[in-house]
Amino acid sequence: MKTDFLFRSKISGTGYYLPEKILSNFDLEKMVDTSDQWIRERTGIERRHLAAPEQATSDLALIASQNALKDAGLTSQDIDMIIVATASPDQVMPSTACVLQDKLGCRNVMGFDLSAACSGFVYALSVADQFVRTGFHKHVLVVGAEVLHRFVNYKDRETCILFGDGAGAWIISQAGPGETNVILSSHLRTDGNLGDLFVLPAGGTRLPFSQEVLEQGLHFVRMKGREIFKHAVRTMTMVCQQALDANQHTSDQVDWVIPHQANARILQSVAEHFNIPMEKVIMYMHETGNTSAASIPIAFEMARQEGRVKRGQTILLTAFGAGITSGSLLMRY
Ligand code: ACO
Repeated sequence: MKTDFLFRSKISGTGYYLPEKILSNFDLEKMVDTSDQWIRERTGIERRHLAAPEQATSDLALIASQNALKDAGLTSQDIDMIIVATASPDQVMPSTACVLQDKLGCRNVMGFDLSAACSGFVYALSVADQFVRTGFHKHVLVVGAEVLHRFVNYKDRETCILFGDGAGAWIISQAGPGETNVILSSHLRTDGNLGDLFVLPAGGTRLPFSQEVLEQGLHFVRMKGREIFKHAVRTMTMVCQQALDANQHTSDQVDWVIPHQANARILQSVAEHFNIPMEKVIMYMHETGNTSAASIPIAFEMARQEGRVKRGQTILLTAFGAGITSGSLLMRY
């Protein structure tokens, strides 16, 4: 949606955190019937980081948030709202945002978790943008954080090769008059009829935990990979086109595409559709795997710290995830 409001949002600070422990493709070769070559060629992933046993999602979110606050030159007292996009919260209740508010020592501001799977960070940025555009909030902390590996069956070679843990955080702040480095638009979408392509069957009200759930492994994610691949390309292409059209931009006006880091071949297909060279597509899945809602802010920050992403550039974020959800956000950083 591209709407005109009194204020605009800017990205005033960014940070990320990856846990120390690494699970490489070679480690996975010893666990399931797979190979480093197969995983690299089919996905682009070489390794992923896993949270330590004592780390929950909020612990990763905390470090990423502290890094973002430092980058913005703000303190936790400046934050007016916290959104944590996650598919792997610390627990169902209280929300990870509440845990984070306490750990960060923020004021008693509103905070909530946002559930849109791997599209969660783009969704959360869009929500933050609306609150800032109306003048309701000045500084919003938006976090994408996941410890998804705890829902992965390390006997299922199709899913266990994909996922890693991590967190990324952005501070979305009210831009001053005349500032042009702002969020331009966001486009979000849901295809709920495709919900069965990626599911975590148990643990909700449909199928509460039981001995049977454990025995059948219904507490682990299940995926129809090939189908997801097809719809990922279709939906991301659609929302990216909406972003370009809404801003009367052509794809060659975009300096960087920063997509959800699911699979290098998915991103190649999307880039080809727009005639965007792969050099303009930020990819770090070789290092991180698929970190779901955390993947875009982690990729952004790795690229920024390497000096690739710079102020003033036009950047297109895009994601898809379980649901199926998808989204795009065009901004000038
Ligand atoms: N190692 C070796 N062989 C494997 C592995 C593995 N880890 N996994 C599957 N195979 C085999 C299959 O059994 C199949 O064998 P067969 O031909 O004898 O039947 C063969 O490899 C090809 O399988 P495909 O499913 O066609 O492989 P594909 O090229 O589609 O790659 C993959 C599979 C990587 C899962 C791909 O489809 C993909 O990335 N899909 C999107 C997945 C995704 O993004 N999921 C998360 C979305 S939701 C969210 O992000 C939370």
